[in-house]
Amino acid sequence: MLRTHNLALHFDEGRTKALDGVDIEIFEGEFVAITGPSGCGKSSLLNLIGTLDNPTKGELFFCNQPYSALQDLSEFRREQIGFVFQSFHLIPTLTTLGNVLVPTIGRSSDHNAIDRASDLLKLMGLESRLNHFPGQLSGGERQRVAIARALINDPAFILADEPTGSLDSTNATHVLDVIANMRLKKSLTIVMVTHDPVVAAKADREICMCDGKVISGSRRNP
Ligand SMILES: Nc1ncnc2c1ncn2[C@@H]1O[C@H](COP(=O)(O)OP(=O)(O)OP(=O)(O)O)[C@@H](O)[C@H]1O
Ligand SMILES: [Mg+2]
Repeated sequence: MLRTHNLALHFDEGRTKALDGVDIEIFEGEFVAITGPSGCGKSSLLNLIGTLDNPTKGELFFCNQPYSALQDLSEFRREQIGFVFQSFHLIPTLTTLGNVLVPTIGRSSDHNAIDRASDLLKLMGLESRLNHFPGQLSGGERQRVAIARALINDPAFILADEPTGSLDSTNATHVLDVIANMRLKKSLTIVMVTHDPVVAAKADREICMCDGKVISGSRRNP
């Protein structure tokens, strides 16, 4: 479903190699954890998969189609990808419900978006926080809003950067269970960056990175 070929992302005129020749393959319905030390390129890889940045070199493929051939990147992002960012990126002037609805803006004839958003927020245990603003929420609550927002458009895949980093272990387990249920119901593909070995152990596969390179787990075992 997702494939990268010799992917590189350089900064500072090549002095910083955030990614340095990454070849990975991710199959439909897989739950893949990306692990590795701080600064090894995990967020950079998610950003490229999510079309938030352009590679310096190499190519990405979605269902064998090169990203460079995609006609409408913003539509691809909106319809196929759910993001959970490392720093949440909630809009401070929108309520919980408003934030979850943001990815539905620009979708014509999406008539039950508010019901879906409310259901997801209920699943996240936030039914009493629908009209609160991000500044009135705890870190863990904000993180759960971000996860609900990622799921609102029934994406093909979720790109999640440390989605349980601000959660206590009970909430982390709950959120992982919600995502796992979605995955079973809708054959969601999950790419999750995590430092938590307990979370990584729940994945089908762990892709380990170091210094911009993949050191293990780039392919699924046959
Ligand atoms: N915009 C940028 N300009 C210059 N260097 C950058 C930029 N973005 C990332 N980097 C560098 O690229 C490398 C990889 O960064 P990245 O954010 O992908 O790491 P990470 O594995 O996600 O780390 P962490 O676990 O701390 O989130 C780091 O050395 C970082 O300093
Ligand atoms: Mg990161």
